[in-house]
Amino acid sequence: MNIRLETPADYREMETNRIILRPWRESDAEALFKYASDPDVGPRAGWPPHKSVEESLEVIRSIFNNDTTWAIELKESGESIGAMGYLPCEGNNLPSREGEPLIGYWVGKPYWNQGICTESLGLMIDHIRRTTDIKSLISSHFIDNPASGRVMEKCGFVPTGETCVDESLAGSDRPMRVLRIEIKR
Ligand SMILES: CC(C)(COP(=O)(O)OP(=O)(O)OC[C@H]1O[C@@H](n2cnc3c(N)ncnc32)[C@H](O)[C@@H]1OP(=O)(O)O)[C@@H](O)C(=O)NCCC(=O)NCCS
Repeated sequence: MNIRLETPADYREMETNRIILRPWRESDAEALFKYASDPDVGPRAGWPPHKSVEESLEVIRSIFNNDTTWAIELKESGESIGAMGYLPCEGNNLPSREGEPLIGYWVGKPYWNQGICTESLGLMIDHIRRTTDIKSLISSHFIDNPASGRVMEKCGFVPTGETCVDESLAGSDRPMRVLRIEIKR
């Protein structure tokens, strides 16, 4: 019998025909800077544009250095073009349930509206369903950023009907729409 033991890296990697979700690497710093320095990306998610490759490297070493944050790698170029992840819902005003994680994501602007974020979020939800006992996920988006809400809805998130102001995010005086998905097994 041919048994292939999975390494922790294997366990976290997921793919479709065109993308791979995998842990961030320090060698991604230049690609991260290229896309995360765009003023149309970070501020829509509540974080400021990156100012240098060094800052991007530091983000990879700190913020992205955990088991629940993935780089979205485009297979055809091998480049990291976005991020996908989930984290404990702490330090914000979201109307979350006990232990309910918050999801977040972004994609580099040249790749918008090609279904890449929807595909990546679908992979992550499937991974959560298979490997954790998480019962639901929550997220929110600025009301003037409807593309993000559309991604969530395409993956099965439903608006809770609530809005909130997330004080942990820059620009948080702008109201955010809250959505949730129940994880069914
Ligand atoms: C939001 C974001 C991640 C979407 O990534 P993406 O790969 O372009 O998403 P997808 O292509 O999978 O889906 C985008 C959907 O939004 C729709 N959309 C785009 N602009 C829209 C707009 N102004 N109004 C309504 N829907 C819009 C697209 O038509 C598509 O829906 P469809 O498939 O039904 O046509 C990307 O725009 C981004 O990184 N934005 C900046 C960071 C950000 O907003 N992060 C989320 C913070 S909550």
